[in-house]
Amino acid sequence: MRVHNRHCQKKALRKRERRERKAAQWKQERKKRRTARKKRHVVGDGEGDFGSNVLVVNEGAEMTVEQKREMREARKAVEIADFMARSEKGTTVVLDLEWEDKLSDREVKALVQQVLYCYGSNRSALRPVRLVLSGVKPGSHTLERLQKLAGFPKSWQGVTILEQRYIDHFDSDRDRHRLVYLTADTDTVVRTFEPEKVYIIGGIVDHNRLKGSTRAKADEQRIASGRLPLEDHMEFGSKSRVLTVNHVLNIILEHQRSLDWRVALEACIPAGKARPRPSERTAAEDAPRTAARTAAAAPAAAAAAAAEAEAKDEAIRPAVAEAPDAGSGMVVPATDAGEGRAGCGSREASV
Ligand SMILES: C[S@@+](CC[C@H](N)C(=O)[O-])C[C@H]1O[C@@H](n2cnc3c(N)ncnc32)[C@H](O)[C@@H]1O
Repeated sequence: MRVHNRHCQKKALRKRERRERKAAQWKQERKKRRTARKKRHVVGDGEGDFGSNVLVVNEGAEMTVEQKREMREARKAVEIADFMARSEKGTTVVLDLEWEDKLSDREVKALVQQVLYCYGSNRSALRPVRLVLSGVKPGSHTLERLQKLAGFPKSWQGVTILEQRYIDHFDSDRDRHRLVYLTADTDTVVRTFEPEKVYIIGGIVDHNRLKGSTRAKADEQRIASGRLPLEDHMEFGSKSRVLTVNHVLNIILEHQRSLDWRVALEACIPAGKARPRPSERTAAEDAPRTAARTAAAAPAAAAAAAAEAEAKDEAIRPAVAEAPDAGSGMVVPATDAGEGRAGCGSREASV
């Protein structure tokens, strides 16, 4: 009996030793696996066109806070480079902010909100433009309000901010011929947006108080003017054909993307203002054509779309969320989805 007991004790001891050895061995292997995972988590190539600027990430990796921060910064840099490359291919649009002395405080406030919308739409556009703000003078009410916007001006990617007038900036003979002032008060119709031209949008919120003023400015400066071909595709009835600054920019962005006026106008003009002309094809009928054009521009477009989604998240949302006065009586934040129109982030705003 005593022999049997001693035998059992030895057996239990050996069993425990075996268990402890296995546990130590397993712990060591786990440590090795962790270290290896940490080492292999980020690879970036950065070669080729913007579509190939891809960060390859081992998603399962455990990263330190520092590594995560570096990764975010690297992704952001790739996204910005991609956005800049796309906007270089687009046309130039000046928001003419030289009208401050004609506007009331409330109108300047509403205008700055529209400038913010323009920045946001451009930043998330598949085919962005080179955006220029002219006449942003030190000490002006406009600059004071712009400076309250998140990230302005340092993090406003792809925006050139001029203290001087656009006419002094684009002052060579060649440059003057590139300028086209967009205005509802002309018979000349803009048929397309050319990459080498500079389209000017009047930074005016006037409820039609200053009718004809942008046309007069263009004539005085001897530069071209043009209106959008609104009535070729849309019926306004008794409603005004004068659009807000941000709606005009959205139309440019959407036309640059789709190369189709009907698609651009339908997407960007609020449903309450105009209806598509019944004699024309519907946007749904146009869709395959537009999709085909978009597909022809791929695969770069696919990469751009991915960047767009990320840009919306990282750059646009904070800017809009932190914008002051978003709920002011003059400007109502985004209602595009509710308007049943596709795509271009049109927002209600005062003209
Ligand atoms: C609210 S409107 C200002 C209207 C102002 N009374 C004027 O003389 O232009 C803002 C700007 O959007 C642009 N815009 C508005 N409707 C347009 C249209 N139908 N065609 C071309 N540009 C337009 C113009 O650049 C205009 O200055």
